[in-house]
Amino acid sequence: MLFSKKINFKIIFKYMICFVYILFSFANTYEINIKNTEEELDQLFCKNKYYGYKETNLYFDEEIYMIPDKGQNKINLLSNIHFIGKNGTVFDFNKKDYSGIEFTFEGKGEGLFFENITFRNFLTSPIELLFAMIFIISSDSNDYRVNFKNCTFENNNMFILSRFKAKKKTKEIDNIVFDNCIFRNNTDRLLKSYHEDKEIQTSYNNIKFDNCIFTGTIGSTYIDSGIIKYNNCHFINISDSLNTYFRYESLILTSVQKENEIYFSNCIFQNIFLNGTRPYFFINFSKSLFVGNTFKNCHSEIGYIINAYYIDKYNKLTFDGLTVIGILKI
Ligand SMILES: *[C@@H]1O[C@H](CO)[C@@H](O)[C@H](O)[C@H]1NC(C)=O
Ligand SMILES: *[C@@H]1O[C@H](CO)[C@@H](O)[C@H](O)[C@H]1NC(C)=O
Ligand SMILES: *[C@@H]1O[C@H](CO)[C@@H](O)[C@H](O)[C@H]1NC(C)=O
Ligand SMILES: *[C@@H]1O[C@H](CO)[C@@H](O)[C@H](O)[C@H]1NC(C)=O
Ligand SMILES: *[C@@H]1O[C@H](CO)[C@@H](O)[C@H](O)[C@H]1NC(C)=O
Ligand SMILES: *[C@@H]1O[C@H](CO)[C@@H](O)[C@H](O)[C@H]1NC(C)=O
Ligand SMILES: *[C@@H]1O[C@H](CO)[C@@H](O)[C@H](O)[C@H]1NC(C)=O
Repeated sequence: MLFSKKINFKIIFKYMICFVYILFSFANTYEINIKNTEEELDQLFCKNKYYGYKETNLYFDEEIYMIPDKGQNKINLLSNIHFIGKNGTVFDFNKKDYSGIEFTFEGKGEGLFFENITFRNFLTSPIELLFAMIFIISSDSNDYRVNFKNCTFENNNMFILSRFKAKKKTKEIDNIVFDNCIFRNNTDRLLKSYHEDKEIQTSYNNIKFDNCIFTGTIGSTYIDSGIIKYNNCHFINISDSLNTYFRYESLILTSVQKENEIYFSNCIFQNIFLNGTRPYFFINFSKSLFVGNTFKNCHSEIGYIINAYYIDKYNKLTFDGLTVIGILKI
């Protein structure tokens, strides 16, 4: 008798644990459909209604969402948040002054995920250093993730993405990843990482572009400190001259730190007509590896594509498996 009672108790206990676990995980996942109404977008972007759960899934099933313009779009991440669009969902910054969004991470492994969303019309700002989206890390750590999957960035005319404050590398992870994304007709910097505190020399992050397309006018990317990788990307039909701010040093990428690493693997550069005095890449110090890339029908008015400084002394510039078709001069 005593024996069987013990077993029953064990089984009941197991079920209880299971039940508590299920309750717990429901309580920690929050799912909601967001509509394009001022009220719902205010709750999402300005009032931080949806955070504090372990996992938050926000679904956007309308065609267009107008991002609020009150200068209050600040989201604090305590855990993972997913922004999930359907095919064709647009986040429209609506050419407004204060429609940028600020995401704050603690640097304890929080993740921000975007899928199937088009970001467009970030065109003006009264403050020079306002971005469409800013990722602020409130600690010294780089333990945070931002992931864009199947997203499009188009017709943006101001800085698009930035992040600051992670002073050092605490974790070997890809911090910002673009997977299957399209960048089209963006005239200012696509991405600029920097530290707002001028005393601090570097702001650390790792960036990765997988299977992305860059076309039309593209804004140059600037990395402060970290690793940047482009895998299987296609830079195509790029005309870059009068439209673009020519204050930037390069068409595609600028990197100026010794400890940086740059990788371009299996990328295709095609139909690029670059007028003026800028190269495709501006690389000061950084270690750079170009493997298996193809240049087809590319042009650079200054006659070369890379401006590289201090390469012998500090790091290496390696080209492997380069294919050139057409008129490129290096
Ligand atoms: C994203 O859109 C594609 C179609 O372009 C669709 O197949 C996929 O299911 C969508 N993803 C999600 C998470 O809804
Ligand atoms: C996504 O939308 C585009 C344009 O509306 C359409 O051409 C395409 O077929 C759609 N893709 C899917 C998988 O629904
Ligand atoms: C991304 O979009 C492609 C079509 O453009 C679709 O085949 C794929 O399922 C999408 N991926 C996701 C994760 O939605
Ligand atoms: C490119 O963006 C500009 C605004 O910056 C817009 O006026 C123009 O129509 C866009 N071009 C295309 C092809 O979408
Ligand atoms: C690039 O331009 C060619 C020729 O104008 C066109 O056929 C092709 O569709 C374009 N590709 C993209 C991705 O814009
Ligand atoms: C850019 O250079 C190409 C090739 O030299 C030339 O045909 C084109 O007219 C130039 N475009 C501009 C806007 O200067
Ligand atoms: C490269 O970096 C060094 C050290 O920061 C700096 O002195 C030099 O001016 C830079 N060169 C260019 C061309 O920016």
